[in-house]
Amino acid sequence: MCGIVGYTGHREAFPVIVKGLKRLEYRGYDSSGVALLNNGQLNVYKKKGKVSEMEESVIGKDLHSHIGIGHTRWATHGEPSDRNAHPHQSQSGELAMIHNGIIENYAQIKQELLAKGYTFKSDTDTEVLLNFIEDIKKNNNCGLEEALRIALKRIVGAYCILLISPEDPETIIAARKGSPLVIGIGKGEHFLASDASPIIEYTKEVVYVNDYEIAIIRPDELILKNLGNEKQTPFIQKLDMELAAIEKGGYEHFMLKEIHEQPDTIFDCLRGRLLVQTGQIMMGGIENNLDAFIHAQRIIIVACGTSWHAGLIAEYLIEELCRIPVEVEYASEFRYRNPVINKGDVIIAISQSGETADTLVALESAKEKGAFIFGVVNAVGSSIARLSHGGAYTHSGPEIGVASTKAFTGQLAVLSMMALKIGRAKGTLDEKRYLQLMQDLETIPEKVKEILNDTSNIERIAEKYKDASDFLFLGRGYNFPVALEGALKLKEISYIHAEGYPAAEMKHGPIALVDEKLPVVFVATKDSYYEKIVSNVQEIKARKGKVIAVATTGDEIIPGMADDVMFVPDADETIAPLLSVVPLQLLSYFVGKAKGFDVDKPRNLAKSVTVE
Ligand code: AGP
Ligand code: GLU
Repeated sequence: MCGIVGYTGHREAFPVIVKGLKRLEYRGYDSSGVALLNNGQLNVYKKKGKVSEMEESVIGKDLHSHIGIGHTRWATHGEPSDRNAHPHQSQSGELAMIHNGIIENYAQIKQELLAKGYTFKSDTDTEVLLNFIEDIKKNNNCGLEEALRIALKRIVGAYCILLISPEDPETIIAARKGSPLVIGIGKGEHFLASDASPIIEYTKEVVYVNDYEIAIIRPDELILKNLGNEKQTPFIQKLDMELAAIEKGGYEHFMLKEIHEQPDTIFDCLRGRLLVQTGQIMMGGIENNLDAFIHAQRIIIVACGTSWHAGLIAEYLIEELCRIPVEVEYASEFRYRNPVINKGDVIIAISQSGETADTLVALESAKEKGAFIFGVVNAVGSSIARLSHGGAYTHSGPEIGVASTKAFTGQLAVLSMMALKIGRAKGTLDEKRYLQLMQDLETIPEKVKEILNDTSNIERIAEKYKDASDFLFLGRGYNFPVALEGALKLKEISYIHAEGYPAAEMKHGPIALVDEKLPVVFVATKDSYYEKIVSNVQEIKARKGKVIAVATTGDEIIPGMADDVMFVPDADETIAPLLSVVPLQLLSYFVGKAKGFDVDKPRNLAKSVTVE
């Protein structure tokens, strides 16, 4: 999820690595570290906080080396801390490793290693993999490369790892699956990194390592192999992107990059949890607190902004599938109105950053009143995560754009799995529908990819309506909160006034706003409200409103009425918001871009509102 840098060659390694880690800071992280090899001595320096803080902490230390590995961590297993920071050292101290990604089956492997007498200095999945490699190396009496190959055949999950050992003082061994790795080719030196931004100032000749490949890198040698130990021919490319473009993965803005990351981030969120084959949903935070949910008299969802919209969707999900009354509260209101909180109430806090002051303080007061708190958070080890009695991380990775996109769909994926798991445990969700929804949820990453395959139509619509002074966003049922989210996205990014409304509510006043200048966005996918929303579209058309519709691919009725249409694949209405929100994210992005605004850093906004 975060940043990796490696170097072996004739330069001093430490400055190259630290500068490279600073090039990767834009990816967001919580700690950093470096491992250096010098004359058989392995020196590891790591620290929670900024790279500059780690740099300060090693002043005066032995930093001389021509080979090293460095890491900026975005925690997934184990809160941000010095001891959980990378590089990790194996039990013998002979190996040092850094890792980007998630090892899904780390717990089972850890149990096996504990039974063999291994001890662990950190809570990370990374340290488990490292000691697993060491254990294989010892038991099979083989080299590091062979031990790594054997270990990776058992590993389930995503990884980009760099390994060094005093045994082979000039060699870095690397491997990747699911997390990127680029190798820069210099003269008598090689550079490794998560993307080309730490490399480009030294060389434009790079090799992108493929999934299931292992790289053995020395100053004058680069060998690529597959897990079958067969040599692969490195495909050397010439970098043609500038630094700024590389940081955004070739996208013009972080927001667009993060919208396009959603197939992967939703997949990462479901990974290891949604097990369709066995019909299981593995969520430790729910399992360990299942009684609290099953016997809950009421669930109160507390959040702000986009996370509050995710809470509204959770309300529909939980009430339909679990038959538990749900109230969704703006955190800022909840905390000041001395709410009634009874024993047996469950509070679900939803927050990308895990640091939103309004949400945090609302939870603190609820906790004092004895409520059980469950956190749905993206940032591991954040204040809200630590304050909660239990929780589930969205694993969306660092979200740099101020407007929340991939974190929102990550929240919806977690909340959907929660509702399915609790509904099944309570017996309020029959097995057939449970399995059908599991299968539907599993198809979401591919369906999001389908939407993202061609965004030109959405860009055209954005260009057509970018000068409107107001927008309305309308939806019903599960799509009503999606309409609210679409309105918020447009406001945030393009500074155009936009309101979200329940579509049926228009006739109670707001329809007076409708005229030929007002674009009205209908979130009108095929669902149990479809016939009703068709009538609502007709009401707007009758008053000359311009209708932009999000419709289900293959639908002909809504598209036949609308002025412009953005199609999404069909899905059960309970999880359709994961799809119907994507065109609205793109619409706001393209309108903001067409108006020339800074879509990554909109005026007046902060990524995490840590003030009340
Ligand atoms: C959403 O695009 C905004 N950035 C904002 O509404 C955000 O959702 C809100 O501040 C809550 O942040 P959190 O999820 O980090 O708690
Ligand atoms: N899963 C590892 C950890 O939590 C690596 C996280 C990352 O990619 O930064 O330490």
